[in-house]
Amino acid sequence: MQAWKGNPRKRRIRAVDLFCGAGGLTYGLAKAGVDVKLGVDIDPACEFPYTANNGALFLLKSVEDLQARDLQKAFGRSGLRLLAGCPPCQTFSTYNQKAASTDKRWWLLRHFSRLVQEAAPDLVTTENVRRLQDQDVFNEFVATLKASQYHVTYDVVNCEDYGVPQHRHRLVLLASKLGPIRLLAPSEIGRSRRTVKEAIGDMPSLEAGSVDSADPLHQASTLSPTNRLRIAASRPGGTWRDWEENLIADCHKRTTGKTYPSVYGRMCWEEPAPTITTEFFAFGSGRFGHPQQQRAISLREGAILQGFPEGYKFSPPEEPIYKKKVGRLIGNAVPVGLSEVIGLSIMSHIAGLRMGKGNADAGERSCG
Ligand SMILES: C[S@@+](CC[C@H](N)C(=O)[O-])C[C@H]1O[C@@H](n2cnc3c(N)ncnc32)[C@H](O)[C@@H]1O
Repeated sequence: MQAWKGNPRKRRIRAVDLFCGAGGLTYGLAKAGVDVKLGVDIDPACEFPYTANNGALFLLKSVEDLQARDLQKAFGRSGLRLLAGCPPCQTFSTYNQKAASTDKRWWLLRHFSRLVQEAAPDLVTTENVRRLQDQDVFNEFVATLKASQYHVTYDVVNCEDYGVPQHRHRLVLLASKLGPIRLLAPSEIGRSRRTVKEAIGDMPSLEAGSVDSADPLHQASTLSPTNRLRIAASRPGGTWRDWEENLIADCHKRTTGKTYPSVYGRMCWEEPAPTITTEFFAFGSGRFGHPQQQRAISLREGAILQGFPEGYKFSPPEEPIYKKKVGRLIGNAVPVGLSEVIGLSIMSHIAGLRMGKGNADAGERSCG
Protein backbone atom coordinates (compact mmCIF):
# COMPACT_ATOMS: atom_id res chain seq x y z
CA MET A 1 0.00 0.00 0.00
CA GLN A 2 1.46 3.34 -0.99
CA ALA A 3 1.14 6.30 1.40
CA TRP A 4 -0.40 9.42 -0.06
CA LYS A 5 2.38 11.98 -0.53
CA GLY A 6 0.72 14.66 -2.60
CA ASN A 7 -0.74 18.08 -2.06
CA PRO A 8 -4.07 17.86 -0.12
CA ARG A 9 -5.78 19.85 -2.90
CA LYS A 10 -5.02 16.99 -5.21
CA ARG A 11 -7.14 14.73 -3.02
CA ARG A 12 -10.19 16.29 -4.63
CA ILE A 13 -11.85 13.69 -6.79
CA ARG A 14 -13.24 14.78 -10.13
CA ALA A 15 -15.57 12.36 -11.84
CA VAL A 16 -17.18 11.66 -15.19
CA ASP A 17 -20.36 9.58 -15.12
CA LEU A 18 -20.85 7.52 -18.28
CA PHE A 19 -24.46 6.39 -18.98
CA CYS A 20 -25.49 9.03 -16.43
CA GLY A 21 -29.29 8.75 -16.86
CA ALA A 22 -31.25 11.13 -14.61
CA GLY A 23 -28.33 11.28 -12.19
CA GLY A 24 -28.88 8.65 -9.46
CA LEU A 25 -25.20 7.75 -9.39
CA THR A 26 -23.97 11.33 -9.75
CA TYR A 27 -26.28 12.61 -7.00
CA GLY A 28 -25.06 10.02 -4.48
CA LEU A 29 -21.38 10.44 -5.40
CA ALA A 30 -21.74 14.21 -4.95
CA LYS A 31 -23.40 13.69 -1.55
CA ALA A 32 -20.30 11.76 -0.52
CA GLY A 33 -18.02 14.62 -1.62
CA VAL A 34 -17.02 13.60 -5.15
CA ASP A 35 -16.95 16.50 -7.61
CA VAL A 36 -18.82 15.13 -10.63
CA LYS A 37 -17.99 17.30 -13.62
CA LEU A 38 -19.75 15.62 -16.53
CA GLY A 39 -22.48 13.13 -17.31
CA VAL A 40 -22.74 11.41 -20.69
CA ASP A 41 -25.86 9.74 -22.05
CA ILE A 42 -27.39 8.99 -25.42
CA ASP A 43 -30.94 9.75 -24.26
CA PRO A 44 -31.94 13.44 -24.59
CA ALA A 45 -34.55 12.96 -21.82
CA CYS A 46 -31.69 12.73 -19.30
CA GLU A 47 -30.38 16.24 -19.87
CA PHE A 48 -33.03 18.13 -17.91
CA PRO A 49 -33.02 16.04 -14.71
CA TYR A 50 -29.27 15.58 -14.84
CA THR A 51 -28.42 19.28 -15.07
CA ALA A 52 -31.36 20.68 -13.05
CA ASN A 53 -30.43 18.66 -9.97
CA ASN A 54 -26.66 18.29 -10.22
CA GLY A 55 -23.87 20.81 -10.63
CA ALA A 56 -22.43 18.96 -13.62
CA LEU A 57 -22.46 19.36 -17.38
CA PHE A 58 -24.29 16.95 -19.65
CA LEU A 59 -22.98 15.60 -22.94
CA LEU A 60 -25.50 14.03 -25.31
CA LYS A 61 -23.32 11.45 -26.99
CA SER A 62 -22.97 7.72 -27.39
CA VAL A 63 -20.20 6.28 -25.23
CA GLU A 64 -19.20 4.40 -28.40
CA ASP A 65 -18.13 7.75 -29.89
CA LEU A 66 -16.54 9.18 -26.77
CA GLN A 67 -12.79 9.81 -26.81
CA ALA A 68 -10.24 10.15 -24.02
CA ARG A 69 -9.87 13.87 -24.81
CA ASP A 70 -13.59 14.41 -23.96
CA LEU A 71 -12.85 12.96 -20.54
CA GLN A 72 -9.56 14.80 -19.99
CA LYS A 73 -11.29 18.11 -20.65
CA ALA A 74 -13.87 17.36 -17.96
CA PHE A 75 -11.34 16.03 -15.43
CA GLY A 76 -9.09 19.09 -15.71
CA ARG A 77 -5.43 19.06 -14.74
CA SER A 78 -5.41 18.56 -10.97
CA GLY A 79 -7.02 16.16 -8.55
CA LEU A 80 -7.75 12.48 -8.74
CA ARG A 81 -9.86 11.23 -11.63
CA LEU A 82 -12.79 8.83 -11.24
CA LEU A 83 -14.46 7.23 -14.24
CA ALA A 84 -17.88 5.98 -13.16
CA GLY A 85 -20.49 4.32 -15.31
CA CYS A 86 -23.41 1.95 -15.29
CA PRO A 87 -24.08 0.58 -18.77
CA PRO A 88 -27.71 -0.37 -19.48
CA CYS A 89 -28.50 -3.48 -17.50
CA GLN A 90 -31.48 -4.85 -19.45
CA THR A 91 -28.96 -6.84 -21.48
CA PHE A 92 -28.01 -8.83 -18.41
CA SER A 93 -31.28 -8.94 -16.49
CA THR A 94 -32.98 -12.24 -15.67
CA TYR A 95 -35.75 -11.62 -18.18
CA ASN A 96 -33.46 -11.01 -21.16
CA GLN A 97 -31.16 -13.99 -21.16
CA LYS A 98 -31.76 -14.73 -24.85
CA ALA A 99 -31.20 -11.14 -25.95
CA ALA A 100 -27.93 -10.89 -24.12
CA SER A 101 -25.52 -12.34 -26.67
CA THR A 102 -26.91 -10.38 -29.62
CA ASP A 103 -27.75 -7.07 -27.95
CA LYS A 104 -25.58 -4.23 -29.19
CA ARG A 105 -25.45 -2.80 -25.69
CA TRP A 106 -23.36 -5.84 -24.79
CA TRP A 107 -20.51 -3.86 -26.29
CA LEU A 108 -20.95 -0.83 -24.11
CA LEU A 109 -18.95 -2.32 -21.24
CA ARG A 110 -16.14 -2.84 -23.77
CA HIS A 111 -16.31 0.83 -24.66
CA PHE A 112 -16.12 1.67 -20.96
CA SER A 113 -13.03 -0.56 -20.81
CA ARG A 114 -11.55 1.16 -23.88
CA LEU A 115 -11.99 4.56 -22.24
CA VAL A 116 -10.35 3.32 -19.02
CA GLN A 117 -7.33 2.26 -21.06
CA GLU A 118 -7.21 5.48 -23.07
CA ALA A 119 -7.78 7.96 -20.24
CA ALA A 120 -6.14 5.96 -17.40
CA PRO A 121 -8.25 7.44 -14.55
CA ASP A 122 -7.00 6.85 -10.99
CA LEU A 123 -10.31 5.28 -9.95
CA VAL A 124 -13.09 3.35 -11.67
CA THR A 125 -16.50 2.21 -10.51
CA THR A 126 -19.44 0.44 -12.09
CA GLU A 127 -22.74 -0.93 -10.80
CA ASN A 128 -25.02 -3.40 -12.52
CA VAL A 129 -27.36 -6.36 -12.14
CA ARG A 130 -25.79 -9.28 -10.32
CA ARG A 131 -25.94 -11.59 -13.36
CA LEU A 132 -23.31 -9.49 -15.08
CA GLN A 133 -20.63 -11.18 -12.98
CA ASP A 134 -21.36 -14.49 -14.77
CA GLN A 135 -20.75 -13.00 -18.21
CA ASP A 136 -17.51 -13.21 -20.20
CA VAL A 137 -17.75 -9.51 -20.95
CA PHE A 138 -17.45 -8.75 -17.22
CA ASN A 139 -14.50 -11.11 -16.73
CA GLU A 140 -12.80 -9.40 -19.67
CA PHE A 141 -13.45 -5.99 -18.07
CA VAL A 142 -11.89 -7.10 -14.77
CA ALA A 143 -8.90 -8.69 -16.56
CA THR A 144 -8.26 -5.49 -18.50
CA LEU A 145 -8.37 -3.42 -15.30
CA LYS A 146 -5.92 -5.76 -13.60
CA ALA A 147 -3.59 -5.77 -16.62
CA SER A 148 -3.64 -1.95 -16.42
CA GLN A 149 -2.38 -2.10 -12.80
CA TYR A 150 -5.70 -1.46 -11.03
CA HIS A 151 -6.55 -3.08 -7.71
CA VAL A 152 -10.06 -4.46 -8.29
CA THR A 153 -12.81 -5.50 -5.87
CA TYR A 154 -16.35 -6.45 -6.69
CA ASP A 155 -19.25 -7.89 -4.80
CA VAL A 156 -23.01 -8.35 -4.97
CA VAL A 157 -24.68 -6.22 -2.33
CA ASN A 158 -28.17 -6.10 -0.96
CA CYS A 159 -29.23 -2.45 -1.09
CA GLU A 160 -31.50 -2.97 1.93
CA ASP A 161 -28.39 -3.46 4.09
CA TYR A 162 -27.37 0.11 3.28
CA GLY A 163 -30.70 1.67 4.29
CA VAL A 164 -32.23 1.72 0.78
CA PRO A 165 -35.96 1.02 1.30
CA GLN A 166 -36.00 -1.55 -1.48
CA HIS A 167 -35.07 -5.20 -2.17
CA ARG A 168 -32.39 -4.77 -4.82
CA HIS A 169 -29.27 -6.87 -5.30
CA ARG A 170 -26.57 -5.15 -7.31
CA LEU A 171 -23.06 -5.88 -8.45
CA VAL A 172 -20.67 -3.08 -7.45
CA LEU A 173 -17.09 -2.87 -8.72
CA LEU A 174 -14.40 -0.52 -7.44
CA ALA A 175 -10.91 -0.21 -8.92
CA SER A 176 -7.97 1.98 -7.99
CA LYS A 177 -4.47 2.49 -9.30
CA LEU A 178 -3.48 3.83 -5.86
CA GLY A 179 -3.92 0.72 -3.72
CA PRO A 180 -6.44 -1.90 -2.57
CA ILE A 181 -9.99 -0.58 -2.44
CA ARG A 182 -13.27 -2.05 -1.28
CA LEU A 183 -16.89 -1.13 -0.68
CA LEU A 184 -17.49 -0.16 2.96
CA ALA A 185 -19.50 -2.79 4.82
CA PRO A 186 -23.04 -2.01 6.03
CA SER A 187 -21.75 -1.95 9.64
CA GLU A 188 -19.29 0.81 8.69
CA ILE A 189 -22.06 2.87 7.07
CA GLY A 190 -24.42 2.24 10.00
CA ARG A 191 -27.81 2.77 8.37
CA SER A 192 -30.75 0.74 9.55
CA ARG A 193 -33.10 -1.14 7.25
CA ARG A 194 -35.87 1.15 6.00
CA THR A 195 -39.44 0.21 5.23
CA VAL A 196 -41.95 1.47 2.67
CA LYS A 197 -43.76 3.23 5.51
CA GLU A 198 -40.63 5.08 6.60
CA ALA A 199 -39.97 6.18 3.02
CA ILE A 200 -43.42 7.12 1.69
CA GLY A 201 -45.81 6.74 4.62
CA ASP A 202 -46.35 10.50 4.87
CA MET A 203 -47.15 11.13 1.21
CA PRO A 204 -50.59 12.74 0.56
CA SER A 205 -53.39 10.30 -0.35
CA LEU A 206 -54.23 9.95 -4.02
CA GLU A 207 -56.94 8.32 -6.12
CA ALA A 208 -55.95 6.18 -9.13
CA GLY A 209 -55.79 8.53 -12.13
CA SER A 210 -55.32 11.71 -10.07
CA VAL A 211 -52.47 14.19 -9.58
CA ASP A 212 -51.47 15.95 -6.36
CA SER A 213 -51.95 19.69 -6.75
CA ALA A 214 -48.66 20.52 -5.00
CA ASP A 215 -46.46 18.04 -6.88
CA PRO A 216 -47.28 16.95 -10.43
CA LEU A 217 -44.96 13.95 -10.04
CA HIS A 218 -47.14 12.63 -7.25
CA GLN A 219 -49.63 11.19 -9.74
CA ALA A 220 -51.10 7.71 -9.91
CA SER A 221 -52.01 5.77 -13.06
CA THR A 222 -55.63 5.12 -13.90
CA LEU A 223 -56.98 1.63 -13.28
CA SER A 224 -59.38 -0.27 -15.52
CA PRO A 225 -62.63 -1.38 -13.82
CA THR A 226 -61.20 -4.93 -13.55
CA ASN A 227 -57.95 -3.70 -12.03
CA ARG A 228 -59.92 -1.65 -9.49
CA LEU A 229 -61.59 -4.87 -8.34
CA ARG A 230 -58.24 -6.67 -8.39
CA ILE A 231 -56.41 -4.15 -6.24
CA ALA A 232 -59.31 -4.09 -3.79
CA ALA A 233 -58.90 -7.90 -3.51
CA SER A 234 -55.11 -7.69 -3.04
CA ARG A 235 -53.49 -7.90 0.35
CA PRO A 236 -50.09 -6.40 1.22
CA GLY A 237 -47.36 -8.87 0.27
CA GLY A 238 -49.89 -11.13 -1.50
CA THR A 239 -50.29 -12.09 -5.16
CA TRP A 240 -53.06 -12.62 -7.70
CA ARG A 241 -53.34 -16.13 -6.27
CA ASP A 242 -55.35 -14.59 -3.42
CA TRP A 243 -58.08 -13.38 -5.79
CA GLU A 244 -61.35 -15.03 -6.68
CA GLU A 245 -61.25 -17.02 -9.92
CA ASN A 246 -63.20 -14.42 -11.96
CA LEU A 247 -60.49 -11.77 -11.39
CA ILE A 248 -57.54 -13.93 -12.43
CA ALA A 249 -56.16 -13.10 -15.89
CA ASP A 250 -56.41 -15.89 -18.50
CA CYS A 251 -52.63 -15.98 -18.90
CA HIS A 252 -52.24 -16.75 -15.20
CA LYS A 253 -54.78 -19.56 -15.37
CA ARG A 254 -52.56 -21.38 -17.87
CA THR A 255 -49.86 -23.60 -16.35
CA THR A 256 -47.01 -21.41 -17.62
CA GLY A 257 -48.57 -18.24 -16.19
CA LYS A 258 -48.71 -19.70 -12.71
CA THR A 259 -44.96 -19.24 -12.42
CA TYR A 260 -45.35 -15.42 -12.36
CA PRO A 261 -46.74 -14.58 -8.94
CA SER A 262 -44.75 -11.35 -8.75
CA VAL A 263 -47.19 -9.20 -10.73
CA TYR A 264 -50.35 -7.49 -9.47
CA GLY A 265 -49.18 -7.31 -5.87
CA ARG A 266 -49.40 -4.78 -3.11
CA MET A 267 -46.41 -3.55 -1.11
CA CYS A 268 -46.19 -4.04 2.67
CA TRP A 269 -45.78 -1.02 4.93
CA GLU A 270 -43.40 -2.86 7.21
CA GLU A 271 -41.05 -4.21 4.50
CA PRO A 272 -38.70 -2.59 1.99
CA ALA A 273 -40.30 -2.17 -1.47
CA PRO A 274 -39.74 -4.70 -4.25
CA THR A 275 -37.14 -3.74 -6.88
CA ILE A 276 -38.32 -0.55 -8.58
CA THR A 277 -38.34 -1.23 -12.33
CA THR A 278 -38.98 1.18 -15.21
CA GLU A 279 -42.73 0.32 -15.08
CA PHE A 280 -43.28 0.64 -11.35
CA PHE A 281 -46.18 3.08 -11.84
CA ALA A 282 -48.39 0.34 -13.35
CA PHE A 283 -50.25 -2.04 -11.02
CA GLY A 284 -49.91 -4.98 -13.47
CA SER A 285 -46.12 -4.68 -13.85
CA GLY A 286 -44.98 -5.98 -10.48
CA ARG A 287 -45.79 -5.69 -6.81
CA PHE A 288 -46.36 -2.00 -7.19
CA GLY A 289 -49.77 -1.60 -5.53
CA HIS A 290 -49.80 0.99 -2.71
CA PRO A 291 -49.91 -0.77 0.69
CA GLN A 292 -53.27 0.78 1.63
CA GLN A 293 -54.75 2.94 -1.13
CA GLN A 294 -56.50 1.54 -4.21
CA ARG A 295 -53.79 2.46 -6.72
CA ALA A 296 -50.24 1.77 -7.88
CA ILE A 297 -47.52 3.91 -6.31
CA SER A 298 -47.03 7.35 -7.84
CA LEU A 299 -44.02 8.50 -9.86
CA ARG A 300 -42.82 10.54 -6.87
CA GLU A 301 -43.17 7.59 -4.51
CA GLY A 302 -41.09 5.46 -6.90
CA ALA A 303 -38.44 8.19 -7.02
CA ILE A 304 -38.34 8.36 -3.21
CA LEU A 305 -38.01 4.58 -2.95
CA GLN A 306 -35.01 4.96 -5.31
CA GLY A 307 -33.56 7.48 -2.85
CA PHE A 308 -34.12 10.69 -4.82
CA PRO A 309 -34.96 13.65 -2.58
CA GLU A 310 -38.60 14.82 -2.66
CA GLY A 311 -37.83 17.88 -4.80
CA TYR A 312 -35.83 16.10 -7.52
CA LYS A 313 -37.03 17.37 -10.90
CA PHE A 314 -37.49 14.92 -13.76
CA SER A 315 -39.37 16.99 -16.39
CA PRO A 316 -39.07 20.64 -17.45
CA PRO A 317 -41.95 22.63 -15.89
CA GLU A 318 -43.38 23.55 -19.30
CA GLU A 319 -43.57 19.91 -20.44
CA PRO A 320 -46.38 17.48 -19.63
CA ILE A 321 -45.25 14.53 -17.52
CA TYR A 322 -44.82 11.45 -19.70
CA LYS A 323 -45.14 8.52 -17.33
CA LYS A 324 -43.16 6.08 -19.44
CA LYS A 325 -40.27 8.47 -19.84
CA VAL A 326 -40.11 9.50 -16.18
CA GLY A 327 -40.64 5.90 -15.06
CA ARG A 328 -37.71 4.82 -17.22
CA LEU A 329 -35.43 7.52 -15.76
CA ILE A 330 -36.38 6.60 -12.21
CA GLY A 331 -36.36 2.80 -12.61
CA ASN A 332 -33.00 2.83 -14.41
CA ALA A 333 -31.24 4.84 -11.71
CA VAL A 334 -28.71 3.56 -9.23
CA PRO A 335 -30.44 4.06 -5.84
CA VAL A 336 -29.01 7.26 -4.41
CA GLY A 337 -28.24 5.58 -1.06
CA LEU A 338 -26.08 2.97 -2.80
CA SER A 339 -24.36 5.62 -4.94
CA GLU A 340 -23.50 7.53 -1.78
CA VAL A 341 -21.99 4.39 -0.24
CA ILE A 342 -19.86 3.96 -3.39
CA GLY A 343 -18.72 7.60 -3.02
CA LEU A 344 -18.02 7.21 0.72
CA SER A 345 -15.97 4.08 0.01
CA ILE A 346 -13.86 6.00 -2.50
CA MET A 347 -13.40 8.92 -0.09
CA SER A 348 -12.41 6.50 2.69
CA HIS A 349 -9.92 4.82 0.34
CA ILE A 350 -8.28 8.16 -0.43
CA ALA A 351 -8.27 9.28 3.21
CA GLY A 352 -6.68 5.95 4.14
CA LEU A 353 -3.94 6.38 1.55
CA ARG A 354 -3.14 9.74 3.01
CA MET A 355 -2.70 8.11 6.40
CA GLY A 356 -0.77 5.26 4.83
CA LYS A 357 -3.36 2.52 5.40
CA GLY A 358 -6.18 2.71 2.84
CA ASN A 359 -9.60 1.19 3.43
CA ALA A 360 -8.52 -2.31 2.58
CA ASP A 361 -7.30 -3.24 6.04
CA ALA A 362 -10.71 -4.12 7.48
CA GLY A 363 -10.69 -7.30 5.40
CA GLU A 364 -11.69 -7.82 1.80
CA ARG A 365 -14.81 -9.50 0.61
CA SER A 366 -14.88 -11.16 -2.80
CA CYS A 367 -11.96 -9.94 -4.82
CA GLY A 368 -11.74 -10.48 -8.55
C1 LIG B 1 -28.73 1.91 -16.06
S1 LIG B 1 -29.04 3.44 -16.86
C2 LIG B 1 -27.94 4.48 -15.96
C3 LIG B 1 -28.56 5.12 -14.77
C4 LIG B 1 -27.73 6.17 -14.11
N1 LIG B 1 -26.41 5.72 -13.75
C5 LIG B 1 -28.43 6.69 -12.86
O1 LIG B 1 -28.00 6.36 -11.77
O2 LIG B 1 -29.44 7.41 -12.99
C6 LIG B 1 -28.22 3.27 -18.39
C7 LIG B 1 -28.19 4.53 -19.26
O3 LIG B 1 -27.38 4.24 -20.40
C8 LIG B 1 -27.84 5.05 -21.44
N2 LIG B 1 -27.27 4.56 -22.71
C9 LIG B 1 -27.67 3.49 -23.46
N3 LIG B 1 -26.85 3.36 -24.52
C10 LIG B 1 -25.92 4.35 -24.45
C11 LIG B 1 -24.82 4.73 -25.25
N4 LIG B 1 -24.50 4.05 -26.35
N5 LIG B 1 -24.10 5.81 -24.88
C12 LIG B 1 -24.42 6.51 -23.76
N6 LIG B 1 -25.46 6.20 -22.97
C13 LIG B 1 -26.20 5.13 -23.29
C14 LIG B 1 -29.35 4.95 -21.33
O4 LIG B 1 -29.97 6.03 -22.00
C15 LIG B 1 -29.54 4.98 -19.80
O5 LIG B 1 -29.80 6.29 -19.37
